[in-house]
Amino acid sequence: MADTKVYRASTTAPVNIAVVKYWGKRDTKLNLPTNSSLSVTLAQSDLRTLTTASCSSSYPSEQGDTLLLNGEPSDVSGARIQACFRALRARRAALEATDSSLPKLSAMPLRLVSENNFPTAAGLASSAAGFAALVRAIANLYELTDNPSQLSLIARQGSGSACRSLFGGYVAWRMGQAADGSDSLAEQVAPASHWPEMRALILVVSAAKKDVGSTSGMQQTVATSSLFQQRVREVVPANMAKMEKAIQDKDFGAFAEVTMRDSNSFHSTCSDSYPPIYYMNDVSRAAVRAVEAVNEAAGKTVAAYTFDAGPNAVIYYLEKDAEAVVGTFAAVVGGASGWKEGATSLKSGIALNETVA
Ligand code: ADP
Ligand code: DP6
Ligand code: CO
Repeated sequence: MADTKVYRASTTAPVNIAVVKYWGKRDTKLNLPTNSSLSVTLAQSDLRTLTTASCSSSYPSEQGDTLLLNGEPSDVSGARIQACFRALRARRAALEATDSSLPKLSAMPLRLVSENNFPTAAGLASSAAGFAALVRAIANLYELTDNPSQLSLIARQGSGSACRSLFGGYVAWRMGQAADGSDSLAEQVAPASHWPEMRALILVVSAAKKDVGSTSGMQQTVATSSLFQQRVREVVPANMAKMEKAIQDKDFGAFAEVTMRDSNSFHSTCSDSYPPIYYMNDVSRAAVRAVEAVNEAAGKTVAAYTFDAGPNAVIYYLEKDAEAVVGTFAAVVGGASGWKEGATSLKSGIALNETVA
């Protein structure tokens, strides 16, 4: 009898927010970056993707592979999502070739159903959590034995930042040198348990879809910004080294300074692009000033801001300083005047979980 069974696997993946940013591709086809990057995984946060992958020979083959994203059919004809499907199918086909008792899942149409519990394409790393969840859900469905670094090679092709969301804790994406991208993968530099006091506060300034997506924004920067050259050659390598040391030493002052400087450097290359790209807005800049005020009042650095390709602020701090940091932002978001009205909500993230499945 023909196998018409529906095979299914689900997974969740968290967002990660870079403290040394990825911005720039040296190879757009393989999605290879111009620089290494480093992030903190917000494993126990309000921001995650839940994805279910299924396949069945009973799914009509003329429909091909499908993705329902936040309840809406989403196009899967793009080269990057296709590269993920192709790589995962090839890994499954290799298993099937060595064990003929395995069902031929690699030949069946895939159906993906995915939900982000936070704004999509708003600069809150939905492509990171989204593609990490997509790759892991299919890898689970196919019962692949690949480790997270090997899966990160596949997730990277869907969205660069996604390669870092397959791990918990503190994660580096090594840019690599190989022309085929085989060494451009993510690895954990420290588990969350190494520095479990780390916290993240997310100030949602806008949940709207950004005007300039990450992919096109960084390509515009690579093509037109001269400041970008200095960032890639000097700023990022130095920041990577300082950041890895700050994490090893659990030195929050150093971690915070590199985080804030790297965010500033990244946004400077955006405004140095031609035409310029502005992701931060007045509310974002007010959040920067609020962090500075919190640090001044504490007499030392207890909070660090960083902004991805959008106006929303992520503020890193240590649990012991929660009152000073969260208290300040909760008061301003809930407050009645000034810039405060621009921020719509606060979300918290805790980099506590090592395993993020
Ligand atoms: P963000 O700042 O949210 O990462 P990007 O511009 O980098 O924004 O990427 C947004 C794109 O990522 C979406 O338009 C969609 O193509 C993809 N994406 C987001 N969430 C998912 C998901 N859960 N599953 C698959 N793809 C997703
Ligand atoms: C500013 O990973 O979204 O968040 O590879 O084109 O999908 P694509 O880009 P994406 O870029 C993320 C840029 C960033 C910095 C970072 O996460 O490192
Ligand atoms: Co993204």
